[in-house]
Amino acid sequence: MSALAVLGGAPAVPHGVDESRWPIVEDRDVQAVTDTLLSGKLSWLNDTRVPELERKWAAYVGAEHCIAVNSGTAALHAAVAAAGVGPGDEVLVPALSFLASATCVLHHQGVPAFVDIDPDTFTIDPARLEEKLTDRTKAIIAVHLHGLPADMDPITEFARKHDLVVIETPRRRTPPPTAAAAPGRWATWPRSASWRARTSPRQEKAACSPRRRRTCATARTP
Ligand SMILES: Cc1ncc(COP(=O)(O)O)c(C=O)c1O
Repeated sequence: MSALAVLGGAPAVPHGVDESRWPIVEDRDVQAVTDTLLSGKLSWLNDTRVPELERKWAAYVGAEHCIAVNSGTAALHAAVAAAGVGPGDEVLVPALSFLASATCVLHHQGVPAFVDIDPDTFTIDPARLEEKLTDRTKAIIAVHLHGLPADMDPITEFARKHDLVVIETPRRRTPPPTAAAAPGRWATWPRSASWRARTSPRQEKAACSPRRRRTCATARTP
């Protein structure tokens, strides 16, 4: 293996690359927005593009449902709401992340309980979850930070054991196909929220009730 750039090796990213231009906006993106504006179909009642995107995204990540929203923060809030978190309920969140990983719980009158991170991956440490578990704990938010994946197998196992919902969310990382296919996991991605299996029949029933579906549907913006 060649030396790291910091030790004098060739840099993998050449100097002069403008990394601030993200996301990349192409002509076809501009065209799609223009076409939508000119179509006059700007409400979820008559829009066809957003439902199409939701269907394609759900199929791509292997989820049963997908709801497009206007931001990662809204996606997280929708997932916390759908998980049935109520006033005073606690949600285990990583001690290091973007602030929305914790504020989404506050938005729903829940209490974020900060779990320390694994110093190697900077993501929530599965071995430290137990420390913050109480009888009010309802869910775990696992963040894949800066492209480093959280250790989902032990997190999911812990959630199953304690009847918790797992909400999975990445920062700057496109999920692989069927990413949400593992039973017991829900997932949000920036500007989208999707979820599928629950960790228990009780949560399945609560999360899929028609009332909750409507709650989530209203989170969608055209
Ligand atoms: C891990 C994580 N969650 C949530 C968000 C919030 O996303 P948005 O800025 O689209 O609300 C961010 C934004 O950087 C993030 O990094």
